[in-house]
Parts: sequence; structure tokens; C-alpha cells
Amino acid sequence: MTHLFRTKSLDRLVGETKAGERQLRRTLGPVQLTALGIGAIIGAGIFSTVGTAAAGGSDHLGAGPALVLSFVLTAVACGFAALCYAEFASMVPVAGSAYTYAYATLGELVAWIIGWDLIIEYAVGNVAVAISWSGYFQELLRGFGVGFPEWLGVDYRSAAQAAAEVADAARSGVDVMTLTFPVRQAAQALVEAPRMAGVPIVFDLPAFLIVMGVTWVLVRGIRESAWLNTSMVVLKLAIIVCFIAIGAFYVRPENWSPFAPNGFRGVSSAAAIIFFAYIGFDAISTAAEETRNPQRNMPIGMIASLVVCTIIYILVAIVLTGMVRWDQLGTAEPLATAFAALGMNWTAALISFGAVFATTSVLVVFQLGQPRIFFSMARDGLLPAWAARVHPRYRTPHVTTILTGIVVASFAAVANINEVVELTNIGTLFAFVLVSIGILVLRRTDPGRPRPFRTPWVPLVPWLSVCSCLYLMFELPLVTWIRFGVWLAIGLVFYFMYGVHRSHLRASA
Ligand code: ALA
Repeated sequence: MTHLFRTKSLDRLVGETKAGERQLRRTLGPVQLTALGIGAIIGAGIFSTVGTAAAGGSDHLGAGPALVLSFVLTAVACGFAALCYAEFASMVPVAGSAYTYAYATLGELVAWIIGWDLIIEYAVGNVAVAISWSGYFQELLRGFGVGFPEWLGVDYRSAAQAAAEVADAARSGVDVMTLTFPVRQAAQALVEAPRMAGVPIVFDLPAFLIVMGVTWVLVRGIRESAWLNTSMVVLKLAIIVCFIAIGAFYVRPENWSPFAPNGFRGVSSAAAIIFFAYIGFDAISTAAEETRNPQRNMPIGMIASLVVCTIIYILVAIVLTGMVRWDQLGTAEPLATAFAALGMNWTAALISFGAVFATTSVLVVFQLGQPRIFFSMARDGLLPAWAARVHPRYRTPHVTTILTGIVVASFAAVANINEVVELTNIGTLFAFVLVSIGILVLRRTDPGRPRPFRTPWVPLVPWLSVCSCLYLMFELPLVTWIRFGVWLAIGLVFYFMYGVHRSHLRASA
């Protein structure tokens, strides 16, 4: 039993990362860290998920204009989690993810669960980001007057749902033209689709292609440059500021009433959905080893990026729900739809252009991160050794990068964005819960370990983090819980059949 809780010593961890590599330089200050965070955070969440969060979906209530409150609620939960992440990251002085920190502190089983769970945050999350990318890319093409076959631009489920909505409307004598344009369009996909043995072929080709494109770039290796990241961040922010500044002129205050059509239930239900928009701040913790004065700069970077994004998100929510009635926002590209609905196709195209860039940069961050987590797990013997192979010429973990690329691209072609977002959220919230509990446990079991950053007010803050993340998890639908439970169960079976026997730590014990 005890081997399930064996930990990897810090000396060993540091030794492994130094093998054949140069030590990372501590160059990042608070501004670069904040930029890093914003680069990973702003993406599909604010450009896509915000629509269904406001309007509601088949399995959750919409917040309506009270969406601003949902953003505040989620930001508070993320703030508590960020303070816990910062302590965890600073305690384990190697670049890595929560998987690595857990291995050094909480033991192999918890590390495995977190690593397995992070697949949901990174890979499944990117499925949603790719679908969002595709929606905006198609909107951009439309802005230039280029049509794209409907059956190649949407997943089957969305097309079927849209077709059912159109059929319902027609049956009850409602003018089909009153349905939103994206619904009518998605319904069209089923009509146009070629058939194979009577089954309509409908899939999201752009979502597939963008993931494969990013994968190709990552296999060849990109030099992550602070300059490139900063330009991306500036571009994202500029486009969002444009949305807020131009959109503000088209706000009709009557759209804000009723403010909370579904009451507090709607607000918290939407909070669990737009949590997706905040995912990514934890990526800052992976740069702990390259940060000057992490004690001060890590928390500043995390909290500052959260604060900046929260302010931006609140402004977007106010303007968006003021421009279009809340129940019309349930599209995959609501920020563009808002302008397109006003006939402002050029502005819609500009927003789409920004969204395509924003989501591409998020795709790169997570598509880069996932193979490296697999890589660490394989290096530890918990996954097969071939997963830790490094390309002889490009020096990248090409096997896991290609595998991740193929799986993410294939799911992106057929999955429904709302379901994928919900699964990503539950998985990420669970990782936050484990990290926060980890802080509580370690303060007891290992109080003497140096902590360059200490979470304030322990045990209050970790408990608040656990409770607020659990609260958001409970707002997610039952089917999401079932999918998540199945995923964790598969992970445990895999661990007990493979990892527990092959672990290098076991071999060297
Ligand atoms: N927060 C990231 C996004 O919204 C995952 O795309």
C-alpha cells in the first residue's frame, strides 16, 4: 500500500531536469508573467462560451444580463485556487505542472490522478478551443463573402439540434426566419450533407485542420518568444477593447431587463460554464523556475492576470447583453453574431479576425503543454517509454505531440462544444480541489519544507478554494459527472494494471 504514496525526491526531480539541459534562467518579472497568463486565458471562453452562459442551453439555465455576476463569482473561486497553486509551484523548484508538484509532495497515486485529470484540462479543453476557432474562422470567411459548405463546418449533434429547432418552429407555425442565423445555417448542414449508406456526413473540417496545423508547427519546435507572446496579448486585448468601445454605441438598455431572468440559479449555473474563460492562469505556475523572486512575482502574475481578465470579461458581458437580447446569444460566435445581427459585417469580420488569433494562441499553449505532461509521466515510467521519445533533430517530444494532435483534432471534428466545455470545467475544477487539499495536507505533513511563496490565511484560503470549486462542479449537469467519473475510473484501471508496476520510482526503491 505504501508504494501508492511514494514520492519522488526533490533532488531527483531537479537532477532529471538538469540532465543534458541547461538550467533555466530566472528572467521573468511580474509584467511578463501577467502577459503569459493573459495569453493562455483569453480565448474560446470569452469569444464563444459566453453566449451559451448568457442564453442557457439544453442542460443549464442562462444568466441573462446578470452574466456579469457569474464572472465575478468564478473570478473569486479562481483567485483562491491561484493562491494555492502558487504555493505548490514555488515549493517544487522545477518547471512542470501540478502533476510534477504532486509527485514530489503527495505521492504517486495522487500525482497519477492529477496527471490523468490534466488531460481533460489540456486536451479536452483544446477540443473546445478548436471548435470555437472554426466558428470564428467561418464567420471571417463570410465577412469576405466566401461561403463554406455547411456540412463541413459543424458537428453532427449541433446540426441535428438545429434541424429539430427549425422543425419545431415550422410545426408550431413560427416563422423560421425568426430563429437565429447560426441555427438556420446549422440546420442547413443536414439538408446539404452527402450521405453514406443513408447517414449524413457532417463534420467540422476547419477545427480538425487547425489542430493538425498547430501540431505540425509544434513537432518542428517553436521557440517560445516573449516578443511573440506579448504581441499576441496586445492583439487580443486590442480586439476586445474594439468590441467594447464600438459595441457600447449599440447598447439598448431595455435589453438589460429583466436583469436576472433565471435568478441566482441562472447566475451560478452560468458561472460553472464560463469558468472555461478563466482556465489558463494555472499555466503561469509552470514558469516558476524562470521567475525572478517567485515569492513576490508568482502571486502578482496570477492575481494580476485574473484581475485584468475579470475586468475585461465584465465589460464584454455588459456590452454584449446590452447589444442583443440575452436569449438570442446562444451561438458559437456570439461576439461576431452581435454585430452581424446589426448588419455590421465588417465589424463582425474584425472581431472574428481577433478571435481566430486569440484562440490560436490558446491552442498553442495547451497543445504544447499536454505532450510535456505525457512526457513527464512516461519519463517516470507511468506511461510506456515510447511516449518519452524525443525527436532526434527537432528535440521535441514528437510522439506525444503527434498523438495528442490526432486525438484532439479528431474529437474537434465531431464533438459538441458545450459538452466539451462542461467536461473540461469539471476536470480542471477537480484538479484545483486536489491542489488546494494538497496545500492543507503538506502544511501538516511537511511543515519545514521551504516555501518561497506561502498561501495566506491557511487553512481558510485552501478551504475556500475547495468549497468554491466544488460549488461550481455541482452546478454542472449529471451527465458531465458521469463522463468525468468514467474517465477517472479508466485512469485508475490503467494505473493499477500498468503504472504501479512500471514506475521507475518503484524500480529504484
Ligand atoms: N481560457 C481558455 C479559453 O477561454 C481555455 O480559451
